[in-house]
Amino acid sequence: MSQKKRVLIVDDEMNIRRILQASFDKNGWHAMIADSADMALAMLERESVDCVLTDVTMPGMSGYDLQKRIAELHPETPVVIMTAFGTIPQAIEAIRNGAFEFVTKPFDLDTVKKIIQSALEGNEPKSAKAKAKPKKASGDAKVERAFIAESPAMKEILETIQQVADSRATVLVTGESGTGKEVVARLIHTLSQRSAQPFVAISCAALPETLLESELFGHEKGAFTGADTAKPGRFELADQGTFFLDEIGDIPMPIQIKLLRVLQEREFERLGATKPTRVDVRLVTATNRDLQAAVDDGTFRLDLLYRLQVVEIHLPALRERQEDIKPLCEHFLAKYSAENARELATVSDEALALLHAYPWPGNIRELENTMERATVMASSGEQELLPKHLPTKMRTSAA
Ligand SMILES: Nc1ncnc2c1ncn2[C@@H]1O[C@H](COP(=O)(O)OP(=O)(O)OP(=O)(O)O)[C@@H](O)[C@H]1O
Ligand SMILES: [Mg+2]
Repeated sequence: MSQKKRVLIVDDEMNIRRILQASFDKNGWHAMIADSADMALAMLERESVDCVLTDVTMPGMSGYDLQKRIAELHPETPVVIMTAFGTIPQAIEAIRNGAFEFVTKPFDLDTVKKIIQSALEGNEPKSAKAKAKPKKASGDAKVERAFIAESPAMKEILETIQQVADSRATVLVTGESGTGKEVVARLIHTLSQRSAQPFVAISCAALPETLLESELFGHEKGAFTGADTAKPGRFELADQGTFFLDEIGDIPMPIQIKLLRVLQEREFERLGATKPTRVDVRLVTATNRDLQAAVDDGTFRLDLLYRLQVVEIHLPALRERQEDIKPLCEHFLAKYSAENARELATVSDEALALLHAYPWPGNIRELENTMERATVMASSGEQELLPKHLPTKMRTSAA
């Protein structure tokens, strides 16, 4: 029996099937082909498939509908969608529906292979889980990839993200703690053409100045005491990809100046280096501070702020986007019910009223913790979230 990974290619164009099949076989995978969604579904019934790569526009069922069926029938099978340029919003919708990733046509074979590779890797723990507890696995792919955006404010933000993902424009993400700033940074990367390249993240708050500087820019051997070997910085590691600088409001002045230069000239020197290093990096930064106020009190450079906020995405607090509360609850209930062997899945009207009334100072992170706690509090067999599953402070705040 072959141990090769099995990749099912679904496309109505024979030439595309041939090119992909030849390339996948060469890559050491077992490529299977279907010329329609119906044929693909029939094959999935009969044979084991580790990943599906599907075209969107085909006679009969579309690739999007195929993806939805697979999410229902074979939730452990990752689906990668090939879509035409200019239909990104639908592709994003597909990702929200649980698709693993999408590639735009005309595609670059290497990119497709990298994405399939990561889908195959990501699939391994999932299928192991599916075997361990077959009933709970349903919807896993969806749960892990979901970006909940039901409120008008978040829908608008999702649109902005779609629009800016592919540009090199720097994005500043602001919002209270726990509103999803890092999630947005990752989504920008995932939806960009850089998605097969690295996403590198660092928090500026966690490190003292000298360490932060060498982490960001790297150093040469002997640049300072203890620098026994040369080391590339995170900027270099993020080359071709996306660099996420979290808590940007905390960076000290000298590093602000160096950062400004990277943005302007796309180059910098490692500590102790004489020659500059060039990088192609998309910078996304985040803060829960008011940077304009920091500029006013002289701790943040205005010219840097301009460079950072080419696009600004402000995430509203959870209490300002009530429509997201229920879907977020259901999303986290599904996740933690599966983890804790519980069945909580829906939210009762009484519980929802309490959740709507609560101010959520910790935003989505707090809501996530609350849902995790609720699944633990619930008895097995209980399917509906009730007020008794919520902390006392939420049960009293509505009064
Ligand atoms: N739109 C969303 N849909 C689903 N889950 C989300 C969404 N936004 C945030 N989350 C989840 O909420 C939690 C907090 O998100 P994240 O870490 O991105 O917040 P943050 O704004 O970076 O917080 P902090 O300021 O504390 O660093 C994470 O578990 C994340 O997965
Ligand atoms: Mg964060």
